[in-house]
Amino acid sequence: MFTSTVGAPIHADKVDLNKDYRSIKVSPYSPHIGAVITDIDLTKELSQTQIEEVKRAFIQFQVLFFRDQKINFDDQIRFASHFGSLGQHVGVNTISKGTDNPLVRKFHYDENSIRISGENWHSDQSCAPFPPLGSMLYNHTLPPNSGGDTMFASTYAAYEALSDRMKSFLKGLTATHDGTRVFGPGTPISTHPIIVRHPESQRLGIYVNWDFTSHINELPKNESDAILKFLYRHIGRDEWSCRFRWEENSIAFWDNRCAQHKAIWDYWPNVRSGFRVQIEGSMSPIPG
Ligand code: SIN
Repeated sequence: MFTSTVGAPIHADKVDLNKDYRSIKVSPYSPHIGAVITDIDLTKELSQTQIEEVKRAFIQFQVLFFRDQKINFDDQIRFASHFGSLGQHVGVNTISKGTDNPLVRKFHYDENSIRISGENWHSDQSCAPFPPLGSMLYNHTLPPNSGGDTMFASTYAAYEALSDRMKSFLKGLTATHDGTRVFGPGTPISTHPIIVRHPESQRLGIYVNWDFTSHINELPKNESDAILKFLYRHIGRDEWSCRFRWEENSIAFWDNRCAQHKAIWDYWPNVRSGFRVQIEGSMSPIPG
């Protein structure tokens, strides 16, 4: 159990899954983030109850995992569209590539890859004025001897583990999220609060990340650098993160408002390949 230097132990949620979910099976993947959803076929239209329960699980667990779903673009778009309008990547120079469908991006890496997308902890395109609400990655091809896992961290649990003094210090501060650092000139740069309130769960989380956050606006550079370094390390702690092991035809669907993720490139020259869609955000992060 992790006990922060000045804080209380971090407790796992007490959830009565049998009572809460009737049309799908929901199995927690780790104490603070992630659940595997079974008893569902994403190649078919879902019932209203299934849609409502998947939405509830998404808010509860921050990232949902699905196995053995051999979906095509139409299936992925239909399923993701239950969560909002699908949007397009705001990056100018991206490693992931477009497909013939403007809503679907190809995430493909092989022996010719010199980089992969998302190797540092981040929340997708936090540089956008309205960052994407969620992202859904489907991988159909995985390296033969494992590898290519994705890690996910709960920014709620990271926030809750901070001392009260640190929480009050961060409250009201804002940070610059500079997309040009990752995706080059012409990509958006935005200011967002450091502590944010999730619009649906109302829980508080930390909203800065290694990839996009350049500085805390209200502090001199040396103080900003030190606080950000602490926060990045803190958010990525093992105690509130999980490591998803992909199988062929798995899906990971994460909430960018309260989860960060990072892709692990340990499989070169093998192939890992799939497709991602993103659900558009309709608002800027809300100050917490
Ligand atoms: C990303 O969306 O940042 C990439 C995630 C992955 O490929 O595992």
